[in-house]
Amino acid sequence: MKKITIAIDGFSSCGKSTMAKDLAKEIGYIYIDSGAMYRAVTLYSIENGIFHGDTIDTDELKRRIGDIHISFRIDPETGRPNTYLNGVNVENKIRTMEVSSKVSPISALGFVREAMVAQQQEMGKAKGIVMDGRDIGTTVFPDAELKIFVTASAEIRAQRRYDELKAKGQETGFEEILENVKQRDHIDQTREVSPLKKADDALLLDNSHLTIAEQKEWLMAEYQKAI
Ligand code: C5P
Repeated sequence: MKKITIAIDGFSSCGKSTMAKDLAKEIGYIYIDSGAMYRAVTLYSIENGIFHGDTIDTDELKRRIGDIHISFRIDPETGRPNTYLNGVNVENKIRTMEVSSKVSPISALGFVREAMVAQQQEMGKAKGIVMDGRDIGTTVFPDAELKIFVTASAEIRAQRRYDELKAKGQETGFEEILENVKQRDHIDQTREVSPLKKADDALLLDNSHLTIAEQKEWLMAEYQKAI
């Protein structure tokens, strides 16, 4: 069967990853979470003294960017992909509030984006891939056969992230999460390099009031049209 490239972009915490992961599983495609890659670079920067408070030592990060190797491996128990940073499983460590609050300035750096985009394009060379992120349909795979741009209100997205963190035992105030969601939206939309933006040929999906099942049905129908 014909294999295509599927790009799913959108705002933070709008359920892109869940949606992309489920779709990939259903149709037997590889799933890549590009946000996890920017989170891994952020974790590396935190752990290697590249942050001085909120200031990034960009010269040092530029020197080291070639030493940052990110890969994904399927967890045999859950069947879900885990993120590896230089051979170490960092799946949980990259989802903390500390990483969330520092990832947007890291991903606004041109040389970081160049390095990640090159790795993402390599991963998608053979097609049969679902990748989610912010610039997949605009920059990474501008020729993707199916592009979706997902959005939902900031409050609904913050509530989803709150529930997710709570389920993992990480208690964080709702207001703090909402502030983080809004701040990331702002930085992601206004950065100079590859700002978050709907590709002209992307389909818009506002899932504020959709159930997971309704969303899945919509997505499968669009996939069937695209192949
Ligand atoms: O998708 P997630 O929220 O985990 O992404 C974390 C951060 O990584 C985003 O807030 C954004 O700053 C950045 N990102 C990006 N480009 C992508 C994916 C994520 O700039 N393709």
